[in-house]
Amino acid sequence: MGIPQPAFYIFKCEQSSPPGMPKPSCVNPQTKDLFQYLAQLLMQKGIMGTVQPIRTSCLNRCNAGPVMLVEPGHVMYAGLDKGKIERIIDEHIIGGKVVEEYVISEELWDAPISPAEMQAQVQR
Ligand code: FES
Repeated sequence: MGIPQPAFYIFKCEQSSPPGMPKPSCVNPQTKDLFQYLAQLLMQKGIMGTVQPIRTSCLNRCNAGPVMLVEPGHVMYAGLDKGKIERIIDEHIIGGKVVEEYVISEELWDAPISPAEMQAQVQR
């Protein structure tokens, strides 16, 4: 019997845009410890490893930051703070119910491109 796969991966954007750049940043002085907070919550609840937090670079939804992506499910959460992250862990990750009010707007996160559509885009 092998090592089990994690139940979830949580990709937390850790991009910090340089000062003076017009786009908002997912990491600023007010939000710089959100990844650490996420990791601490997972440890406190005994699910670190079963749920794998990943520091990632820009997820291309900067104007809705701070953002994080939960897989499986392609669920993108936006405008995060510590309270929202705790609720997402309790209700989505542990409870199995997506916290719809924190999900990024459909305007910014529409249905995924299908494999067939992607193949049609490939330049050969
Ligand atoms: S900086 Fe976080 S999505 Fe771009």
